[in-house]
Amino acid sequence: MRGMNHPEPIAKKNGADVSVNVQETFRYLWPYLWAFKGRVILAMLALIAAKLATLLMPWALKHVIDSVDPSIRPEVYLPVAFLIFYGLLRFGSVFLGEIRDALFGRVTERAMRNIGLRVFKHLHSLDLAFHLDRATGGISRDIERGTNGISFLMRFLMFNIVPTLVEILSVAIIFAVAFSYWYAVITLAAVAIYIAFTIITTEWRNRFVREANQADSSTNTRAIDSLLNYETVKYFNNEQYEADTYDKFLASWETAKLKNRMSLLTLNSGQAFIIAGAMTVMMIMAANSVIAKEMTIGDLAMINAYMIQLFIPLNFLGFVYREIRRSLTDIENMLALLKRPAQILDVPAAQPLKVTNGNIIWREVDFSYNPDRQILHKLNLTIDAGTKVAIVGSSGAGKSTLARLLYRFYDINSGSIDIDGQNIQHVTQDSLRRAIAIVPQDTVLFNSSIRENIAYGNPHASDADIDRAIKMAHLETFITSLPQGDQTLVGERGLKVSGGEKQRIAIARVLLKNSPILIFDEATSALDSHSEAAIVDAMREVAAGRTTLVIAHRLSTIVDADKIIVLENGSVVEEGNHNQLLELHGRYAQMWAMQLQEE
Ligand SMILES: Nc1ncnc2c1ncn2[C@@H]1O[C@H](COP(=O)(O)OP(=O)(O)O)[C@@H](O)[C@H]1O
Ligand SMILES: [Mg+2]
Repeated sequence: MRGMNHPEPIAKKNGADVSVNVQETFRYLWPYLWAFKGRVILAMLALIAAKLATLLMPWALKHVIDSVDPSIRPEVYLPVAFLIFYGLLRFGSVFLGEIRDALFGRVTERAMRNIGLRVFKHLHSLDLAFHLDRATGGISRDIERGTNGISFLMRFLMFNIVPTLVEILSVAIIFAVAFSYWYAVITLAAVAIYIAFTIITTEWRNRFVREANQADSSTNTRAIDSLLNYETVKYFNNEQYEADTYDKFLASWETAKLKNRMSLLTLNSGQAFIIAGAMTVMMIMAANSVIAKEMTIGDLAMINAYMIQLFIPLNFLGFVYREIRRSLTDIENMLALLKRPAQILDVPAAQPLKVTNGNIIWREVDFSYNPDRQILHKLNLTIDAGTKVAIVGSSGAGKSTLARLLYRFYDINSGSIDIDGQNIQHVTQDSLRRAIAIVPQDTVLFNSSIRENIAYGNPHASDADIDRAIKMAHLETFITSLPQGDQTLVGERGLKVSGGEKQRIAIARVLLKNSPILIFDEATSALDSHSEAAIVDAMREVAAGRTTLVIAHRLSTIVDADKIIVLENGSVVEEGNHNQLLELHGRYAQMWAMQLQEE
């Protein structure tokens, strides 16, 4: 099992070990192909028919030429049948190819859809730790590349590599049967040399291709980063500096491109040389045979046409070879994502959590995010059903961690957390999370309208419910002041609404979720005292009759709590109600005095 704190980079550094997993990749992809048996078989038939048409074309051409050659037949005639046949073959080979693509497109696209969805679901099943460690941009790139890789691999393996090999063999057999085995030997030798040369040169060239791609993407990244920091650039008058840096990237891109082009020149000219060499030798042999009357001019044209046809698909071999390797790596990266086990799992016999009152008990809880730094130490905590319990303590004491543990985003190292007598590790995660609603410390919104963001609390909520939630969360005045009302878009991550507005949207969401247990994590920290009063009101209305955990920054908001817990370095140092704690003259009394002074 991979340690959750030491995430391995999923992308392998190079493709050197690709072959190890190729089988696994194919085993994985096979069912997706086979799900469309009929289509796959039809596509194969279309492919075979197209190849047959292609193979017949030079033969038809030979007959056309021989029919108009006066040295063979004194009274030449127009070979109408062969001419029409030739035309039909030409059309057929292209048309059947299109039919094949149309048939098979559905198969690859369905596979891309199914696999993409599977990865997406899997990503949501992975733990928070994984998501905090990984850049979201990187993951989505992995998925995109992986699904594209699937499409490429399926199409090119089935319709390029395999049929081309079959075609080569057929041509060699035709040559051997119709003329002499020497033509077959030369063809096969030329193809073998060609393939070997292409693979070796492509391997050598990979470095330059990669350099060029890297230069391309780092130039882009640099430009975007610079533009994103537009304001900062202006604040420091660094336009020239930015331009210079950008130009340095552009310059390295230019050199990388140059090297890339030179290596491509080597590849293409080498390939052309091999083809030209083989064709010249065969043409010399054929021309000699024509002079010796062992062959017709039609035969010569046929040999030439076969060779030209044969090397057309081989022309792409370098590209196809490189892309297939890349596709395999990309697919493997994506499959590696899929194979990554979720760290937080339901136990085999997990039952849904049954909340009767909402009584929460923490016993001797030890917890650490990283093995080398313990966050909670033997924490004991009782939250009685239906009461409001406040947690206070300095920043970094572990308050938000408590909320994450209750949601079971992480498993505790030892001890237990029970809700109504059921250990949260023994119930289903889905039922557990359904029972708790939270206004998180940092509310992140979807880039959609305010109303949609609120409705996210319960996608099945009626319009009336949503309106009531808006009212209860004290959002009405704000929304009516907006020209577009609740249809106003909130911008990426909700950056276009203020902190307080965001928190009230979060409260409205929580109202719609309607869970028996509520958590407010510093729901008023970003607010001035006027807005704070509005939110505290909203919170009070929402919390009535439910078990509520309030993580508080400003003590004035929790004076009325049934119990206040003071958390220091991951343990409870004091607990009691406001008055009891003041009489203790301890940590809480100190904090209270300090906050009074500030105000
Ligand atoms: N995902 C994480 N990985 C490692 N350490 C973390 C992680 N999240 C929080 N911490 C650390 O745990 C401690 C408690 O964090 P938190 O519960 O968020 O504090 P607060 O009491 O301010 O809400 C902090 O020192 C913080 O740096
Ligand atoms: Mg916090």
